[in-house]
Amino acid sequence: MTEHTIDGQAATVLARLEERDAREREQGVARALRLRQVTPDVGRFLHVLVLASHARSVLEIGTSGGYSTIWLALAARATRGSVVSLELDPVKVRLAREDVAAAGLSEVVEVVEGDAFAYLRDRRQPAQFVFLDAEKEDYLAYLDLIVPLLVPGGLLVADNLLSHAGDLAAFRARALAHPRLSAVVVPIGRGELLAVRTA
Ligand SMILES: C[S@@+](CC[C@H](N)C(=O)[O-])C[C@H]1O[C@@H](n2cnc3c(N)ncnc32)[C@H](O)[C@@H]1O
Repeated sequence: MTEHTIDGQAATVLARLEERDAREREQGVARALRLRQVTPDVGRFLHVLVLASHARSVLEIGTSGGYSTIWLALAARATRGSVVSLELDPVKVRLAREDVAAAGLSEVVEVVEGDAFAYLRDRRQPAQFVFLDAEKEDYLAYLDLIVPLLVPGGLLVADNLLSHAGDLAAFRARALAHPRLSAVVVPIGRGELLAVRTA
């Protein structure tokens, strides 16, 4: 956490989560127990994109401890929007809610506990910004649920396109060739797909 525009409370929580994530990776903590969060530059990338697109309706798939959620929420607070973040693991849900509260962002964020697929199938409200960061084998199936929810001009960002290039090859091909998306893979962090929903 180096940049200066993030307020003190949130900066403290982001720095703590960065330290924990780095320590867990170094110690080889089991995958299901680790935070597995985005890199700080990707956190900032999400923040910039929400601000630049003036997105008010932000949806995140894969909350973990709330690190990327906090970056999204800081931007959503500025756009007078809100973030709905989906998480299956009750332990992570509790942690994320605590972290979001400690960052002073509870009013902006709703962490929804449960299966993202069930939520997405039932959701009718369109989204202006979607961040996808759950299990890689599910990305292709998520794509079919996300695209209809995106408003024209809405953005989709998906993590791990480069770190999991093999696992995500079919997803990448489908997203890049999708008739309702214009998409590119940006080589920051672990590789971010950035797509806009075309009219
Ligand atoms: C890579 S981590 C998310 C990291 C987070 N975006 C960050 O940067 O701080 C992926 C998370 O997705 C959650 N997840 C996996 N499958 C899910 C599903 N079907 N529904 C909801 N959450 C799911 C996992 O429990 C895990 O916490």
